[in-house]
Amino acid sequence: MKFFLDSANLKEIHKAKEHGLIDGVTTNPTLLARENSDWKTLAADICKETKGPVSLEVFSENYQGMLEEARNLIQLGPNVVIKCPCTANGLRACKALSDQDIAVNMTLVFSPLQALLAAKAGAAYVSPFVGRLDAVGHSGMELVEQIIQIYSNYEFSTQVLVASIRTPTHVLESALLGADVATIPFSVLLDLLKHPLTDKGLAAFRSDADKLVEKTNH
Ligand code: G3P
Repeated sequence: MKFFLDSANLKEIHKAKEHGLIDGVTTNPTLLARENSDWKTLAADICKETKGPVSLEVFSENYQGMLEEARNLIQLGPNVVIKCPCTANGLRACKALSDQDIAVNMTLVFSPLQALLAAKAGAAYVSPFVGRLDAVGHSGMELVEQIIQIYSNYEFSTQVLVASIRTPTHVLESALLGADVATIPFSVLLDLLKHPLTDKGLAAFRSDADKLVEKTNH
């Protein structure tokens, strides 16, 4: 299972990379806008800082605009994946870009049928937004399960990239279902590691290690 960092913050990306925890990065206009810097320079820096794929989203909602932006975005790094929204124009752009061997991440996916269309349009990744679905009383993980089932029925090669992750449980359930990728906010990535019994056990070992050192010194 691959972990992507859902962030446009270079410090977070650098830290996650130092710990060897991430295989790629996903961004969106909201994450880029949060950084208050020139977004194109930032996006190019993120591509440089990241070994794996970096998803950059088109701003246009029309077909020609998406293709034109995609052509410019792929100049920002060899690892750019074009994020297109799951609309009629987005699907059309996905098909055109995929036919030119440009990887597309179909974003804003909220139904299994949208995911089926994304796969048929040749998307490299499909991004079901689990947290936003849970927030309106639906089940994000049920959507992921249905997408995985459909893709496996027909052997689609589109990777299921679980997005809009809010909790470590979302990551756990994605792994249990066999999702290809989870794109994780930095704070949730840190939470994956935490366990009170690890802290408690470490404190006991530290105290006993101190006693052993003290005995050796006397
Ligand atoms: O990057 C796509 C997605 O993970 C954003 O999720 O719901 O936290 O804005 P959200």
